[in-house]
Amino acid sequence: MPRFDLIATATFGLENVVARELQQLGYEDCRVSDGRVLFSGDERDIARCNLWLRSSDRVLIRVGEFPAPDFGALFDQTTALPWADLLPVDASFPVKGRSVRSRLHAVPKVQGVTKKAIVESLKKKHNRFRFDESGAEFQIEVSLLKDIATLTIDTTGPGLHKRGYRSIVGAAPLRETMAAGLIQLSYWSSDRPLIDPFCGSGTIPIEAAMIGRNIAPGLQRSFAAEDWPWFDRQTWKDVRTEARDTRRRDLPAPIMAYDHDPSAIRLSQRGATDAGVGGSIRFGCQEVSELRSPLKYGCLITNPPYGERLGDNEEVEAVYRVMGQTFASLDAWSQYILTSYKGFERLFGRRADRRRKLYNGRLECQYYQYQGPRPPRETEGDSVDSRPEPAIEVQSHIAAEPTPTPAQTPVQPNPQPIDPFGTFVADCSGEQQHIAFDAKAIDSMED
Ligand SMILES: C[S@@+](CC[C@H](N)C(=O)[O-])C[C@H]1O[C@@H](n2cnc3c(N)ncnc32)[C@H](O)[C@@H]1O
Repeated sequence: MPRFDLIATATFGLENVVARELQQLGYEDCRVSDGRVLFSGDERDIARCNLWLRSSDRVLIRVGEFPAPDFGALFDQTTALPWADLLPVDASFPVKGRSVRSRLHAVPKVQGVTKKAIVESLKKKHNRFRFDESGAEFQIEVSLLKDIATLTIDTTGPGLHKRGYRSIVGAAPLRETMAAGLIQLSYWSSDRPLIDPFCGSGTIPIEAAMIGRNIAPGLQRSFAAEDWPWFDRQTWKDVRTEARDTRRRDLPAPIMAYDHDPSAIRLSQRGATDAGVGGSIRFGCQEVSELRSPLKYGCLITNPPYGERLGDNEEVEAVYRVMGQTFASLDAWSQYILTSYKGFERLFGRRADRRRKLYNGRLECQYYQYQGPRPPRETEGDSVDSRPEPAIEVQSHIAAEPTPTPAQTPVQPNPQPIDPFGTFVADCSGEQQHIAFDAKAIDSMED
């Protein structure tokens, strides 16, 4: 079975979460860089990663990467790549492009040259002059970063946040991939209670229940590579069967989801049922001021209103003050709050133990973390360990060259939390363009 260089893409700040997920899946040698984690694998690994990755946006085959300071280099190097090994004669292969801090910044032209070069390469290998592109889609991307071109084929199709468990969403939903990232950045594990007091359409509780019950996030959807003629269909069947067999029926601790909007609660319940975790989450319609819990050592993970997208600032400020007063009674809980509102800590009344910059869509947010005490160990009887949770340390494994490791182990649902910011600083500055490209139009383009 051929092996591929693979890229799991990640939103800013979640790269090391994705790398950690890959390690949990058995892929030890991952290279982390801005927005992506590079690793290697075969067809089965492509299927497994699409099915299991929770925080990644998509899985790409890296066909080639090379310096492209001018169009000549882009054309020649692209032509030399083994396209005919990957694209069948009837493949449809739209090309999209992006360019960040590169000399080749005219993205439509970059796409056009890339498309022409691929056609040229296919002509030689398939001994044909025309390609009708009537078959399965192989979405190609040419991505230029500081004059380095990366050519990829998307194996995923619709982004991995599209789990397939909900068709309707609330007013300001979190992406499922981001919700999974927030959970994996926390100290939550399935034996600890979890509360989301602003659950909206329920993304955080649903994703937590899926993690806790070891439900593969992609189990209910299909992927682009499933339509590829050379991709063994049995492989997909096998990884799905394996995923179904490793699901857990129950959670040892409760997950609770609240919102003051009854329609949000109805939406959450429907989403949870569709995700197969309806019985694992307790829902309630209540104001955040009513939040109480007799339980201890849980994790409160939430995404309250920000002001930008829901309500106005005055309302939001009042909500943050109420949160500060109400959450103070959950003193044995760790609390994690994602918001873009700059004065959050002042209104909440406490400085966070740690803060992390994350992007919710285009909104720059901080993930405020308040570490509660650790749960008592079994051997310590009921005595409370009042020390706060230890600082989260990163276990980022950045290898010089990725070497494949057989990925046989089932996913462990509650990896130790990591610090994705400990070693990684992404540079988000610079121009970025992402333009959908009409593949059929390219044949008529001039050089
Ligand atoms: C940003 S949305 C949460 C989105 C959610 N994470 C999702 O993925 O759908 C904030 C939610 O807080 C709820 N909310 C606003 N003020 C509230 C309050 N005082 N008490 C309880 N819920 C409130 C809103 O109804 C809204 O659903």
